[in-house]
Amino acid sequence: MIRARIIGTGSYLPAEVVTNASLAARVDTSDEWIVERTGIRQRHIAAPGEFTSDLGAAAARRALANAGITAGDVDLIIVATATPDQTFPACATVIQHKLGMVHGVAFDVAAVCSGFLYALSVADAMLTGASSVYRTALVIGAETFSRLLDWDDRATCVLFGDGAGAVVLRAETATGTSADRGILACRLHSDGRYNDLLFVDGGPGSTGTTGKLRMKGKEVFRHAVTNLANVMTETLAAARLTAADVTWVVPHQANRRILEGTAKKLGLPIERVVITVDSHANTSAASVPLALDTAVADGRIQPGDVLVLEAMGGGFTWGAAAVRW
Ligand code: COA
Repeated sequence: MIRARIIGTGSYLPAEVVTNASLAARVDTSDEWIVERTGIRQRHIAAPGEFTSDLGAAAARRALANAGITAGDVDLIIVATATPDQTFPACATVIQHKLGMVHGVAFDVAAVCSGFLYALSVADAMLTGASSVYRTALVIGAETFSRLLDWDDRATCVLFGDGAGAVVLRAETATGTSADRGILACRLHSDGRYNDLLFVDGGPGSTGTTGKLRMKGKEVFRHAVTNLANVMTETLAAARLTAADVTWVVPHQANRRILEGTAKKLGLPIERVVITVDSHANTSAASVPLALDTAVADGRIQPGDVLVLEAMGGGFTWGAAAVRW
């Protein structure tokens, strides 16, 4: 059988760092409140004129270099984003152009904070399907969420940041057992009943404006821990693994307390969870590949390790992937 293996990772964060203290100078909040309720200490914010496609292309270049290949080897680009440079064309084709590619297929997926898991799952299916014509994919999560924020709403503006992460996936022959390296299983869910708990109050087809992010944080929090623990268990079972086999959880970084609650439900010590929310905040679709690249670069993730990637976001959408490194 064929499996998709991650052969390279890369990420990019804009240069400007905004601390909790500098937000406290703008809205009625404090470093103490933000750290205690979320674990966030700082976030990166894109410069004026720096777009999601710039962040995504920078992360993609680093992932290609890490994989030891060039854009010429890539035949599929999938970008997860809720903040494309323009309503259309897809951010993926903009990145394709920035990488100097005039071949291959590029498109976006929209699943907000779960977008990277959705994109990874689609890429996995396109690389490993019986009639696949694709061999090497770039899967990118890239966001400039700072541009969707209401900077006067203290309940949301402290939670998010900008950034991008990317992986290179390659189709490889495998045995079909859970000892294989690569993506072992993906599981996705969505439930549109909860659209009004986390959404943007505008859009090209309704208001004709971009809109701003709105969220009922407490209710999102309640759903997050349950949904994430359930989808991780489901995905591990599909890969014929259990939580005891997991070396690293690489989660969406929304709130440290969500990470702690989810780990506890699975009986995993928090030391097994890759945490970057303190320095990146919630970068939506970029957060999982940013955390993955962080733990690959610092040597925590080693060949043979079992990873569970997970995320939940607006929609609601949620999903997980079990990967042997
Ligand atoms: N600084 C200071 N006080 C703040 C604040 C801020 N930045 N934001 C909200 N508060 C206040 C609220 O106004 C409220 O005050 P009140 O009791 O006088 O009304 C109080 O803090 C408690 O607010 P609450 O919303 O109950 O806090 P919380 O403990 O639920 O934490 C979140 C708020 C947003 C951090 C938390 O609910 C959360 O992380 N939710 C999930 C969000 C998420 O993950 N979204 C993305 C998913 S992809």
